[in-house]
Amino acid sequence: MKAIIAVAGIGTRFLPVTKTLPKEMLPIVDKPVVHYLVEEAVASGIKDIIFITSIGKHALEDYFDRNFELEYRLREKGKNDLLGMIGDIQNMANFYYIRQKEPKGNAHAIMQAQNLIGDETCLAMFGDDIVVSKKPCAKQLIDVYNQHKCPVLALERVSEDKVSLYGIVDGVNADNQNKRLFELKKIVEKPSVKEAPSNLSIIGRYIITSDIFREIKKTKPGKNGEVGLTETFAGFIKNNLAYGYEFEGTRYDCGSKIGFLKANVAFGLKHPEIGKEFASYIKSMRKN
Ligand code: G1P
Repeated sequence: MKAIIAVAGIGTRFLPVTKTLPKEMLPIVDKPVVHYLVEEAVASGIKDIIFITSIGKHALEDYFDRNFELEYRLREKGKNDLLGMIGDIQNMANFYYIRQKEPKGNAHAIMQAQNLIGDETCLAMFGDDIVVSKKPCAKQLIDVYNQHKCPVLALERVSEDKVSLYGIVDGVNADNQNKRLFELKKIVEKPSVKEAPSNLSIIGRYIITSDIFREIKKTKPGKNGEVGLTETFAGFIKNNLAYGYEFEGTRYDCGSKIGFLKANVAFGLKHPEIGKEFASYIKSMRKN
């Protein structure tokens, strides 16, 4: 299975830093957000990764490419461990880049990869969400797909004050042996608390079948002129089966400032080089 990672957004929630730096390149301690997404896809068995980019994403393309000058300087200084580390990045997977030429929504972004995907089923990821889990979140979805052979999206329960930030679904339990699996009955994009059919929110992970690509083509742009995956799935489930899976793990919405900071604290505390010192710093802050 191939993965499509959508990284075309302009990052308005993170201005001014995103004026020149893609939001997917913001660091969680010492690795950019997008590095964690690639790690998750690779740990889920994926070898081919298609990035949907837009203008101003060169830093991301360069990150997954060779940096000959840096390699030369590190070799000169005998820093072989660092040399190995940066060499590993370019070899994590095969990387492909497609430009989304206009900001016409996340389903439109995914659609840009259709010629490369053909009739295959693929994984779609948004460049914002990092998930920490024993079994990679993407692999959890792939396993559901392999069993049921229909589109699947990842779900997380959120508090009431957060429903208006996400796509929210209504579902019925689809397997009494597995309380995490839902047959999707309704999907609403960023509803008010009143309109929200539940507190089950969509996170940026989807298994997209060729039927979903067909549905994207049929989906009319919303008021904002964009074609979204939420609206696509909403149309699809009127006549077809799709599942939602409440994944096991912790998700950090790095597209929001608070999610990004939480991720940095969580990964900082676990970091082999600085974890201990950071933990004692945080403890000392709580005392003051
Ligand atoms: C997008 C989707 C939304 C989903 C969210 C997950 O929103 O439109 O349905 O819940 O990603 O992160 P965005 O974050 O682009 O506003």
